[in-house]
Amino acid sequence: MTIKLPKDFFFGAAMSGPQTEGAWNVGGRLRSYWDMYSDQEINAFFNNVGSYVGNDMYHKYEEDIKLLKSLNFKSFRTSMQWTRLLDQDGKLNPEGAAWYHKLIDCANENGIDIFMNMYHFDMPEYLVKRGGWQNREVVEAYANFVKVAMEEFGDKVKYWFTFNEPIVEPEQQFLHGVWYPYQKDFKQSINVQYNITLAHCLAVANFRKLKAEGKLCEGAKIGMINCFAPPYTKENPSPEDLEAVRMTDGLHNRWWLDVVAHGHLPQDVLDTVENDWKVEINRRPGDEAILAQGKVDWLGFNYYQPTRVQAPDSKFDENGLPCISKPYIWPERKMNVYRGWEIYPKGIYDFGMKIKKECPDLPFFISENGMGVEGEEKYMDENGTVQDDYRIEFVRDHLEWIAKAIEDGANCLGYHYWGVIDNWSWCNAFKNRYGFIRVCLDDGYKRKEKKSASWIREVARTNEFE
Ligand code: NOJ
Repeated sequence: MTIKLPKDFFFGAAMSGPQTEGAWNVGGRLRSYWDMYSDQEINAFFNNVGSYVGNDMYHKYEEDIKLLKSLNFKSFRTSMQWTRLLDQDGKLNPEGAAWYHKLIDCANENGIDIFMNMYHFDMPEYLVKRGGWQNREVVEAYANFVKVAMEEFGDKVKYWFTFNEPIVEPEQQFLHGVWYPYQKDFKQSINVQYNITLAHCLAVANFRKLKAEGKLCEGAKIGMINCFAPPYTKENPSPEDLEAVRMTDGLHNRWWLDVVAHGHLPQDVLDTVENDWKVEINRRPGDEAILAQGKVDWLGFNYYQPTRVQAPDSKFDENGLPCISKPYIWPERKMNVYRGWEIYPKGIYDFGMKIKKECPDLPFFISENGMGVEGEEKYMDENGTVQDDYRIEFVRDHLEWIAKAIEDGANCLGYHYWGVIDNWSWCNAFKNRYGFIRVCLDDGYKRKEKKSASWIREVARTNEFE
């Protein structure tokens, strides 16, 4: 059967500055959270490979953009590193700016739209030392960073995004405590989440102001990129199971959807956190007016896997902190055996339909979806080409559900595959490979197409697939 996507549906690549650029100490770049973490926690990364080299895109950007063009991709999302663009006083670093000019010009010359994201978990080290997102001053510093970037590149970048997966730092660093500084403290986590939300809103406000002043490209748009995980629970759930779904969804998904579509936070979530759980959010008078400015023009939806939850064993832990839910293992799940994540392509449809229902006026695109595979060498043929049929199947299954969501009225405009060219991942370094293009680490980070590259090239050319 041939599945057809709309004619103007776009294909593109999702990447980030800190995972690709490398050149960590070139051109006055400041140190980031990841450099700091790389130094302090040498064993925190697979094979001890820290973030310093990325996939060497700083030096290979021209070749990489040509590769994206050869795949018939129309767009490419990366992020601008705060540490490269600004100095410690929040002023433009001319050498850093010069590199981003070269990157953006090269994309524009090749007919690839840059989707420029302004934050991808990469806080400058000097701000981490001032408390990072726990500190409201950092919120202002971020708004300044975005403003400087938009003033500098506003005439050549049309598509801006404030954050990638803003939930990840609060969750990984402060809720689950699996990233440095390894805290498990819901109060910190919710306040970090809150401050990041304000930072997003201030950045949108700056965008709107510059746009009104005519300082941005014609048709410039602002968005936010979220990792949404559709929440499911077991069959015949108890009221407590449903409550676990409500709060998991509320904190992870609806929090952001309400801000970007409606300009406020979900009241039921605030009520539960502040009244039932008695956790104080450091809200200040005037914040509601800031939140009201958070509405965006479109939304990025990163999809990897759903969450399956059920009621926690008790409402509070021994420290009096709320237990939100506990995992529920769905017997029929198909696991990504390489990555350990559940593969559930229908989740992309379910959440796409939720966006349509809850935010009918908000267009979105799939801003990330991808398969990270450990030990891909195993699948190399005698010419050294990775025969990644599993990746073709993975992408095809997700595209099929996207096509169905569009058919059922979802306003999904395109699909960005995560990775495209293998890149450095948080903690995993190069353990899990995502790309359609392999990066040969022991051969000067040379790029080599995998089998899936020719498959996606054809899909992106025709907007249809079997
Ligand atoms: C989400 C993040 O945006 C990206 O940084 C990460 O590497 C991929 N997913 C894969 O886990």
